[in-house]
Amino acid sequence: MEIKVIKGFKDILPPETKRWRMLEESAREILEGFGCSEIRVPILEKAELFSRSIGEETDIVGKEMYSFEDRSGDVVTMRPEATASIVRAYIEHKMYAADPIAKLYSIGPMFRHERPAKGRFRQFHQINVEVFGISHPMIDAEVMTILMHYLSIVGITGYTLQINSLGCPRCRLPYKESLRAFLSDHLPRLCEDCRRRTEQNPLRTFDCKIQGCQDIMSKAPIVSDYLCTECTEHFAAVRSYLDDLEIAYELNPRMVRGLDYYTKTAFEVVAGGLGAQNTVGAGGRYDHLVAELGGPDIPGIGFAIGMERLLLILPHEPLPRGPLLFIAALGEGLQREAFSLSYKLNRAGVRTMIDYEGRSLKAQMRRADKFGARYVLIIGEDEQRTGKAILRDMQEGKQEEIPIPSIFEEMVRRR
Ligand code: HAM
Repeated sequence: MEIKVIKGFKDILPPETKRWRMLEESAREILEGFGCSEIRVPILEKAELFSRSIGEETDIVGKEMYSFEDRSGDVVTMRPEATASIVRAYIEHKMYAADPIAKLYSIGPMFRHERPAKGRFRQFHQINVEVFGISHPMIDAEVMTILMHYLSIVGITGYTLQINSLGCPRCRLPYKESLRAFLSDHLPRLCEDCRRRTEQNPLRTFDCKIQGCQDIMSKAPIVSDYLCTECTEHFAAVRSYLDDLEIAYELNPRMVRGLDYYTKTAFEVVAGGLGAQNTVGAGGRYDHLVAELGGPDIPGIGFAIGMERLLLILPHEPLPRGPLLFIAALGEGLQREAFSLSYKLNRAGVRTMIDYEGRSLKAQMRRADKFGARYVLIIGEDEQRTGKAILRDMQEGKQEEIPIPSIFEEMVRRR
């Protein structure tokens, strides 16, 4: 029986892979330009890393992780996100020793056992940015700017930045109490999960997808009404920096993000055309995560962009780049020469293709056209006799004769 790809996973085939590379290359260029350095962390981590950082009561840890016991009996997890791993690496390698400030980025696959839908996969890819060691609100605005700048450079329009402040443990304590009191009043109408969350982690009731619970939550107290002075000032400063940069945003007081580690600023970029999974990128501050995972007291902030969602709304297909040159050689001896010439040209950076089957000129021209070659070099017996090959410009529809010994230089010149 035919073996198919696992549900929620997908193959990325050519020419789609070119769009992926374009997104990845642009990300590297832009992020390096903002002073970020690449970090690569493993896909498999100890399960505890995620339960301790993302939180036991979250959907990710409670319902979606790909966890299993490995052959040594350790419970390991295929990373559902990258922040926890990057924080672990930052602590483990004492990256803070010389200077706590580190701007890092990472690109790669994540795994969550969610119900597959448009824009929601079980293996998906994120571009992840994490900045450590800066508590100044200016960095919150800068990190959001990086995200927005990247989206516009790759050609995304029509998105909205939503922001909120989730406060710090100090202001969250009275907030949690008031939320718990509110939820207790509605307990009989809440789903079983939310009843449990009311006790263990009331903030997570905002994540519930059940309509009845969402209706109740739309009247729940909001965290921004409970911010302490420091958090209020921090959030006001972040907004003023965004205003300075003329970055439009919406306040979304009910956005709590689905992960427990956030403090103060949280943000999401939502885009049209994505349906229910409309968050293209999201992130926030996590000022206590480094300490909670055993490191020093160093703040952090970051975001992740979902690449599949980005591709769904990327407006124009970047033209698949065909070869610059297709060599149509006629006859076996000439085909051999074409073979080594194409090797030399490719090494010199001239994208060159040949036909291996020794087909007719007409068939080779059709192939060159199909691959979108800019030029076709025709070498047959006549050309060999006169010492001049024909170079046809497929775009202009013109052709010229080129002395065979100067083909290499000529094509390198036109590269
Ligand atoms: P997150 O909101 O869980 O945050 O995911 C970030 C983005 O990843 C989402 O906005 C979405 O675009 C994409 N994404 C998430 N789940 C899926 C899925 N099942 N299929 C397709 N795309 C998906 C985080 O992961 C945090 N680590 C972000 C962060 C970095 N916060 C601070 N630093």
